[in-house]
Parts: sequence; structure tokens; C-alpha cells
Amino acid sequence: MAESKKSATLTIDGQSYELPIYSPTAGPDVLDIRKLYAQSGVFTYDPGFTSTAACDSTITFIDGGKGELLHRGYPIDQLASKSHYLEVCYLLLYGELPSATELEIFEATITRHTMIHEQMHNFFRGFRRDAHPMAIMVGAVGAMAAFYHDSTDINDPHQREIASHRLIAKVPTIAAMAYKYSIGQPFVYPRNDLDYAANFLHMCFAVPAEEYVVDPILARAMDRIFTLHADHEQNASTSTVRLASSSGANPFACIAAGIACLWGPAHGGANQACLEMLKEIGTPDRIPEFIARAKDKDDPFRLMGFGHRVYKNFDPRATVMKQSADEVLDLLGVENNPILQVAKELEQAALNDPYFADKKLFPNVDFYSGIILEAMGFPTSMFTPVFALSRTVGWISQWKEQLADPQMKIGRPRQLYLGTAMRDYVDIENR
Ligand code: SDX
Repeated sequence: MAESKKSATLTIDGQSYELPIYSPTAGPDVLDIRKLYAQSGVFTYDPGFTSTAACDSTITFIDGGKGELLHRGYPIDQLASKSHYLEVCYLLLYGELPSATELEIFEATITRHTMIHEQMHNFFRGFRRDAHPMAIMVGAVGAMAAFYHDSTDINDPHQREIASHRLIAKVPTIAAMAYKYSIGQPFVYPRNDLDYAANFLHMCFAVPAEEYVVDPILARAMDRIFTLHADHEQNASTSTVRLASSSGANPFACIAAGIACLWGPAHGGANQACLEMLKEIGTPDRIPEFIARAKDKDDPFRLMGFGHRVYKNFDPRATVMKQSADEVLDLLGVENNPILQVAKELEQAALNDPYFADKKLFPNVDFYSGIILEAMGFPTSMFTPVFALSRTVGWISQWKEQLADPQMKIGRPRQLYLGTAMRDYVDIENR
């Protein structure tokens, strides 16, 4: 915990309270209000946690004003161009970039955990074929607690390690199986001779009837998408994982809770919603109509893939993702993709519109990812599952960090009660 070198004085009804202030490595100071209720009988009030630090962490730092994203101090654009996803996983989990030997051992470990218990295949067959892959992922990842009892004890460091490796290794297999199940194709087993991203593409797009060779450029683009989504400080789904973990729930239940939260269109579901929006716009000449709707207070429509609670300048992930979109579409010979054309013109129209500039609304990570994923052959229903499998390492890293925190206690927010004051029951004949 950072030490307090200064404090703030809060005065309520003539009574003053000293509140310690902690200064971080980077970012805003924090005001420690933990003793405020006990001392003053007053709660703080912050729906949506716009001004609340829920924990301390050493994993990821975001500077929304500068458009900075650091994982253990390393900028995301450097990791996206110089590293690869499993190395970033190691960095997030253990705090330092691995040596060549450490990386080799880690990659071999993850590779040999990619198969799932054969009995889980029967579990999959209980779903309808048209189930949304996210519904299957929430169920299947939660159900891992029913198949891997030997890694559910959160008080056993060895079991925490095994559960971490199993989740990072098996969630892509589950995501690929959810896709295969939805299109009526047989499951494709993981292959130990393929790297993480190539293995996922192979499990999604190979069929038993013929050999499927993964294009290395697409595998690289896939790996970059995984890296760009790996972790992102205390976002809604990570906070969900931390809250679930604070009750002592097993790791599979906690990650399933994170997947459930990520599914929402305001969060990880935005990549699917964004591409569906771009398709609804259809042609650049309809962009003004949708810009007007996004600005209309009486219209609930929002530009999906725009805006962010923290980034008020630009989302550094969107910048890298846009470059990747150009590369993948050039490779696939679809650089004239009409949807990409709409996306680029929409981005320019919004960035030049005072409404979006004043409200600091810029493209976020979800704006371009869907364009790449669709070009790769994924249906929109698989966009959020890709986000979820990428973010699993971030959730796990934050879960491990919280469990190791001696200050950890069950998360239990209070409320501003505006309901009816106490009253007596009225018998039905008197109502
Ligand atoms: C992710 O937290 C994370 O780190 C998340 C994430 C991660 O990696 O985990 O980065 C991933 O979830 C990215 C965000 C994906 N969601 C979308 O693209 C959905 C569209 N965006 C919005 O719903 C919204 O911008 C949020 C949810 C992302 C952020 O919402 P905030 O911070 O609560 O902001 P707000 O809703 O209070 O909006 C501020 C103003 C409002 O207008 P006023 O009430 O002040 O007049 O901006 C407007 C909003 O109406 N606004 C938008 C808008 N986003 C905000 N107007 C039009 N289009 C939009 N997209």
C-alpha cells in the first residue's frame, strides 16, 4: 500500500475529519475514505464508480488524457508490435518479461492444457444449436468447476496456478467449440504443433475432411487482437471478477461472472454491436443520419465503438487495431471493403463534429476489431467470445493479485435509500 504524505480535511455539521491521501506511481492521488462512515456516519456516493478507486494494483495503468496504456509499465503499442500474446500473459501474471527459458516452459505448459475434459463435449450437446456463443461460454466456463475439482481451492497456491493455466489454455478451446457447435460442424481438437493464435484459428476453421493451413499473417493479426484485449485496469468485467472473488468463489465461477458482464453492448458486446451498426448504416451517405441520432437526447442510439469512461483523447488500442485492419484487409484483397469505408468515414465525421469532440468521444478498441474479425471469417456472434478469451488472462491476473492482498475483504457497497419509510402491514381486506 502506498504511504500517505498528505491528507484532506472534510467538515460535516461542524465536525472535521482527516482523510489520508495516497500518491500512486502514476495517475491521480486517492483519498482514503475507509474510516469515514465509522467516524462520521456518512456514506460516499458514486454510482458507476466514476471517481472511485476500488483497489490498488500493479498490473495495468491507463492515462485517459494521454491515451496511454501500460502493462507492468510497458506501453501497449510496443507490446503489440514487439511481443506476442503468451509472452504478454506471462508479463501480466508474473510481473516481468520472461527469459527465453521461462517463456519456453510457460508456452509448453499452456499448450498442454488446451484440451478440455472429454465429458464436457456432452455438456455442449445440451445447448440449442442456435445458442449465442457467449451463452455457451458463460455456462461452459462456469461448469469447469464441475470437471476440475482439483483446482478450485483458492487457498492453495498450486491450485491457483493450475487453475490459471487451465483457464488461459482452455477458454479458446471452449470458444472455438461454441462456434463449431453453432454451425453444426464437428469439434476440432487443439494441436500442440501450433502456437496459441494459430491453434485457435485452426480449431475454428479446420474441418476433418481436409487439411487447413493457418495463414501466418492472419495468425499474427489474431495474436495482436488477443494482446490488445488482454487487460484493462478495473473495467466492469474485471471489477465483476474481483467482486465475485472477494466472496471466496472458485476461479471458474469468477471468470464465468466476468464473461457474463463482458457480454453487455456497453462493454465487450460493443464489437458485435458496432459491426451491426456499420452494416445498418450501409453506405457513407447515411452517416449524417446516424450521427444525428447519436446526438439526439431523445434517441437512445449511441455510436457503438465510440466513447470510453477513461480515454478522453484516444484509445491507443484503436490506433493499433486500425493499422491491423488495413493489413488484414489488404492481405485478404478486401481493402475496398464497404464496411471499412463506412467505418473510416464515420470516424472522420464524428471526430470533426463538435458534439463528439466536446464530449471527448473517440473510437475505442471495439471500433475496428469487428472489421478484422469479420474479414477473417468470424460471424458477429463470435466477436465478444474472442474478446472474452483474450481478457481471461487479465481477469486471472487481477484475481490472483486480489487473493494475495492482505487487505482483501468481501466487497459490500452500501446505498442511498430513497424508498418508503417503515410502515405496518395492511391486511388484504383493508387495502
Ligand atoms: C469497452 O472500461 C473499460 O476499460 C472497457 C474496455 C475494456 O477494455 O475493458 O475498454 C472495453 O467496454 C470499451 C467501450 C465499448 N462500448 C461502446 O463502444 C458502447 C458505446 N459507448 C458508450 O456506451 C459509452 O461511451 C461508454 C459506456 C463506453 C462510456 O460511458 P460513460 O463513461 O458512462 O459515459 P456517459 O455514458 O456518461 O457519456 C458521457 C456523455 C453522455 O452525454 P451527456 O449525458 O453528458 O449529454 O457522452 C455521451 C452520453 O450520451 N456518449 C455518447 C456515446 N458515448 C457517450 N453519445 C453518442 N455515442 C456514444 N458512443
